[in-house]
Amino acid sequence: MQILHTVSDIRHCIKNWRNAGQRIAFVPTMGNLHAGHLQLVQEAKHHADKVIVSIFVNPTQFGVNEDFADYPRTETADCEKLAAESCDVVFLPTVEMIYAPNAQTTVSVSDVSKNYCGSSRAGHFDGVATVVCKLFNIVQPDISLFGLKDFQQFVVILTLVRDLHLPIELIGVPTVRELDGLAMSSRNGYLNSVARETAPKLYQTLQQARDELIAGQAITVVEQHAITKLTQAGFIVDYFKVAKRSDLQFATLDDNALIILVAAKLDTTRLIDNLWVDK
Ligand code: PAF
Repeated sequence: MQILHTVSDIRHCIKNWRNAGQRIAFVPTMGNLHAGHLQLVQEAKHHADKVIVSIFVNPTQFGVNEDFADYPRTETADCEKLAAESCDVVFLPTVEMIYAPNAQTTVSVSDVSKNYCGSSRAGHFDGVATVVCKLFNIVQPDISLFGLKDFQQFVVILTLVRDLHLPIELIGVPTVRELDGLAMSSRNGYLNSVARETAPKLYQTLQQARDELIAGQAITVVEQHAITKLTQAGFIVDYFKVAKRSDLQFATLDDNALIILVAAKLDTTRLIDNLWVDK
């Protein structure tokens, strides 16, 4: 496995692969890799000859009071895990390389960035869209893979690829969970032992809400019921919303392909999760 640091190293590498007619898959990450990330790499190998993983903690997707400074940086352990998965290249750019001091361009995907995490984390999805666009332009992959735990992020990137006519196929990979149902996340490491015991209630509440929707209960009643239960369990709920899976608009009674989206804090740790519902 090669570890590359510069844009020109990546360009040189992909040129050789392209000349040999090889198909390239790309998995962008912020590092601190867990089984969910490794699942993306394994899936990537089924779709391409070569797999590139980037590790870059992107400053522009963190708000001023968020955890950019504290975000776990575990590059050595990450590279060992990726080598064990037979990843071909790890791309480790610096902040200065991705954001030159005179950079003036931001990519913004308007509608689908607006609600849910977009309304509570101002500028977050502009940061994600901008860095993903830059990384796509550097790596020029045929396909790119993202975890569906960040479903709104996936829809933002699908919209970006569609609107900018980028010749990249996107694959969403189902959420990998701990045995007790907690969605794997680099931020789970922030949870103390009490919060870690409470955390699986997020997924349990999503499952109960799904059952209530299928049983025909009104959407607002289901949402309110879930918020009350999570609050009683000790969460500070940011949102718990039933949306249309296609465009993330708020769902109505007649919609069938739904997704329930939740974000909630336990102490200072913000967790997100979602569950698909087909009525
Ligand atoms: O999902 C993530 O880890 C990040 O948002 C991404 C897509 C790597 C962009 O920084």
